[in-house]
Amino acid sequence: MIVAKNIHKYYGEVEILKGVNLHIKKGEIVAIVGPSGAGKTTLLQILGTLDKPQKEQNYELYVDGISIKNLSDKEVSAFRNQHIGFIFQFHQLLPEFTALENVCIPAFIGGKGKSETETRAKELLDFLGLSHRINHKPNELSGGEQQRVAVARALINKPSVIFADEPSGNLDSASAKNLHELFFKLRDEFGQTFVLVTHNKELAEMADRTLTMKDGVIVD
Ligand SMILES: Nc1ncnc2c1ncn2[C@@H]1O[C@H](COP(=O)(O)OP(=O)(O)O)[C@@H](O)[C@H]1O
Ligand SMILES: [Mg+2]
Repeated sequence: MIVAKNIHKYYGEVEILKGVNLHIKKGEIVAIVGPSGAGKTTLLQILGTLDKPQKEQNYELYVDGISIKNLSDKEVSAFRNQHIGFIFQFHQLLPEFTALENVCIPAFIGGKGKSETETRAKELLDFLGLSHRINHKPNELSGGEQQRVAVARALINKPSVIFADEPSGNLDSASAKNLHELFFKLRDEFGQTFVLVTHNKELAEMADRTLTMKDGVIVD
């Protein structure tokens, strides 16, 4: 599903990723852990095609069987829209739009029709226990509800892989537990692959596999 070989990243003179290699199977839930500053977010952004590795290094990056290296910027954006979902620590929902509208946006960007998209968005919000909140704006929702709307938004285009960067970092422990259980329920229902950066011990322990990052490399 995801194969990365020899991923390097510099910011200015500083080498942030120092040759990362990993292989994640379809349907796997992998937790990436490690101290702050280790390069977890940088790696997740590269695996999620939001950023690029150093091209002068001979790297490989396959996501959902596609070699990202050979795609144009436009092709990468289209690929990301269709194959990848993101969940961030802060929900990053658009404040002016309702829950339903926020969930629909990636589908509209992908060229999907209004009624088809709204039907799917309502089904997802219902699945996530939010059918009574679809017309609320983000600031009218609890932290846990906002994060579940962000999950629905990540899922709207039926991506095969979800990347989440400290998704429960901003939630109380009950909402965090609820969100973590949701990831496993989604994997079981839809077979999605999850790559989760987390400081949450319980989530890391629930994962199929944990990768520990330290100083720009994976140490186990
Ligand atoms: N856009 C950037 N420009 C310069 N330095 C950055 C940038 N993004 C991250 N860094 C640096 O890269 C290192 C790794 O950051 P990050 O990947 O966010 O680590 P983590 O998510 O493990 O805390 C940190 O030292 C951080 O300051
Ligand atoms: Mg980070």
